[in-house]
Amino acid sequence: MQEIDINRLPRHVAVIMDGNGRWAKRNALNRLTGHKRGAGAVRTIVRTAREIGIQYLTLYAFSVENWSRPSEEIKALMLLLEKYLRDELKEMLDNGIRLSAIGKIDALPPAARRILLETIEKTAANRDMVLTLALSYGGRDELVEVTRKIAMECVAGKLDPAGITKEHITQHLFTAGMPDPDLLIRTSGEYRISNFLLWQLAYTELYFADILWPDFSRESFIEAVVDYQRRERRFGLTSDQLARM
Ligand code: FPP
Repeated sequence: MQEIDINRLPRHVAVIMDGNGRWAKRNALNRLTGHKRGAGAVRTIVRTAREIGIQYLTLYAFSVENWSRPSEEIKALMLLLEKYLRDELKEMLDNGIRLSAIGKIDALPPAARRILLETIEKTAANRDMVLTLALSYGGRDELVEVTRKIAMECVAGKLDPAGITKEHITQHLFTAGMPDPDLLIRTSGEYRISNFLLWQLAYTELYFADILWPDFSRESFIEAVVDYQRRERRFGLTSDQLARM
């Protein structure tokens, strides 16, 4: 297997976990079984990221658009989320993983919301890795929410519209306090962002794997990190400028 340079790790890795349905179809199984296997891949990737020393791992677990799926599938995904949180609490506590969530959490069914908030509270003192689940998340909705909050501050006379900066926006995002992702992984061979972290991905390195999410393994994750480490991040500068820095 290829070697990871632990001195040049991405601080924040975000993942669009795609392909559970196609995995199920390809294996002549139902979609729910695909999602169950997807939850297994979540376990593997969280463990791998923690072992490698990734500080922030953000997983797109349920988008605002996903509410339009058949109600049976939504119900199954929410039950799977509850089960995952119940089963993984010990692992999170043993490994210093702090759980966090971004998205319209209030839209989740009460049982899922309750266990999510409990797990966030129980893991709040952990310091080794932040695992963020994007749930009922949409990047455009997030930006609308930010715009509203900033507009309210202007109306209240606390902020001058002419003084609005990029930092104001960053501070009002669901991800306030987190670094932007260094690496975005999307599985299943689709080349889309799908309304994920629209503001935060401005300078992120994108990695598309032609692997369906349930098959995304420890080795697949390591390969993505190694690929990231081969790239030169220029943030709009030239290579020569970077070399002089
Ligand atoms: C995409 O597969 C995946 C999702 C809709 C959500 C991700 C959910 C999981 C990985 C399972 C449980 C999650 C947790 C955190 C326990 P898809 O259904 O869009 O696949 P398709 O595009 O092939 O139909």
